Amino acid sequence: MANVIVIGAQWGDEGKGKITDLLSRSADVVVRYQGGVNAGHTIVVQGQTFKLHLIPSGILYPKTECIIGCGTVIDPQVLIKELDQLEKLNISTANLLISQTAHVTMPYHRMIDKASEEVRGNHKIGTTGRGIGPTYADKSERTGIRMLDLMDADGLREQLEWTINYKNTILEKLYNLPPLDPQVVIEEYLGYAERLRPFVVDTSLQIYDAVLRRRNILFEGAQGTLLDLDHGTYPYVTSSNPVAGGACVGSGLGPTMIDRVIGVSKAYTTRVGEGPFPTELHGEIGDLLGDRGAEFGTTTGRKRRCGWFDAVIGRYAVRINGMDCIAITKLDVLDELEEINVCVAYEIDGERCEHFPTSARMFARCRPIYKTLPGWQMSTSHCRTLEELPPQALDYLRFLAELMDVPIAIVSLGASRDQTIIVEDPIHGPKRALLHPNGTPV
Ligand code: GDP
Ligand code: IMO
Ligand code: MG
Repeated sequence: MANVIVIGAQWGDEGKGKITDLLSRSADVVVRYQGGVNAGHTIVVQGQTFKLHLIPSGILYPKTECIIGCGTVIDPQVLIKELDQLEKLNISTANLLISQTAHVTMPYHRMIDKASEEVRGNHKIGTTGRGIGPTYADKSERTGIRMLDLMDADGLREQLEWTINYKNTILEKLYNLPPLDPQVVIEEYLGYAERLRPFVVDTSLQIYDAVLRRRNILFEGAQGTLLDLDHGTYPYVTSSNPVAGGACVGSGLGPTMIDRVIGVSKAYTTRVGEGPFPTELHGEIGDLLGDRGAEFGTTTGRKRRCGWFDAVIGRYAVRINGMDCIAITKLDVLDELEEINVCVAYEIDGERCEHFPTSARMFARCRPIYKTLPGWQMSTSHCRTLEELPPQALDYLRFLAELMDVPIAIVSLGASRDQTIIVEDPIHGPKRALLHPNGTPV
């Protein structure tokens, strides 16, 4: 039995979907614990591509229970579409459960998300426009609608009549947008409620029950460490806690019941949306990474910004998540390069800096200090063991592991399940050893 958290170590899109699907083979339960339909997790199985936004990436295994936890925000319209698409493909959704305390994204959340981005102009965040920030804002402001509210028709009517009138003032007066008709929204959402009712339960009870039965639980993070509301590149972040700590809050399971944290990182870096990105590449090499890596957003189709691997944020992600081991994905994307740069530290105003600076203004001034490694200039997508990799690729991986001080458990060399090297058993194999500053194990 092992309860494992899978998290993104960069700015999202690291390949969490592929790695979660891979690990789901030995999981009984897979839990999404934060985020909403801003996420886009891709899984490729036997040439067929699945793009999941809210449903956990364990859904392709018929016996695996999939849980959408209390820390997520749910856009019922998108979720129902996702359910319909899976069912059309004969993927059973009978084992899906949805937390009754997860918050619901409403039409005014999507409208406010888009309108506030426009108002911000040059200061925009580059959100996915899916209403994520406004849904979490209402949760904090205590005006949110939860799944259990959706299930209670009379209560929902009363709550939405008040809330929509309140939101209409904001839509009309602040954003110059047409008001919403409360009755239309209420009827629309009561329709969604009927479709989703069979899935809605107290999922924290289900998760605890799975722990007591010694089931294997996998927690699937969305977004990534640098998009975390508290630990990321604020304000250019999402509105939830993708870091490993978020898995406990967002599922209702205590931290003593977590056994392991697995990070996922690309062999280079990408970012969608605005915000500083020290290793970003604007020229030919950036385009090559974008083309070879097919770096277009799974949710919005936006072009992802591409850059070299950044070991400063890698080290930061290891620390903030208490990462035990890491999966390095998309190594194959680097196959053609003659030389590869790795950012080993930053320079800020002439001073060397080894650590991720928490101030956004400082981070924007960071210049990468690179170490250049030779490329391997041959295809790696067929490799299934470390021994089959060209020596330069092996050296590259060793260098990343050393810089981040974390063992690499998985190397991914293509989108499909089989394009993977399992270096160590990610769940039961060796963990990162914590060392005292004097070098002895803690
Ligand atoms: P997620 O949000 O972290 O699940 O990642 P996305 O699905 O948004 O983006 C990762 C993309 O890379 C998807 O299109 C995957 O199919 C693809 N992918 C995953 N691993 C690999 C890999 O090792 N090599 C290549 N070339 N593509 C990969
Ligand atoms: P997955 O789970 C990459 C980014 C957006 C924007 C910022 C805030 O597929 O890795 P939001 O809509 O959340 O308020 O946008 O966060 N973002 C992601 N970037 N992958 C994601 O999810 C993301 N989800 C949000 O581009 O910069
Ligand atoms: Mg994605």
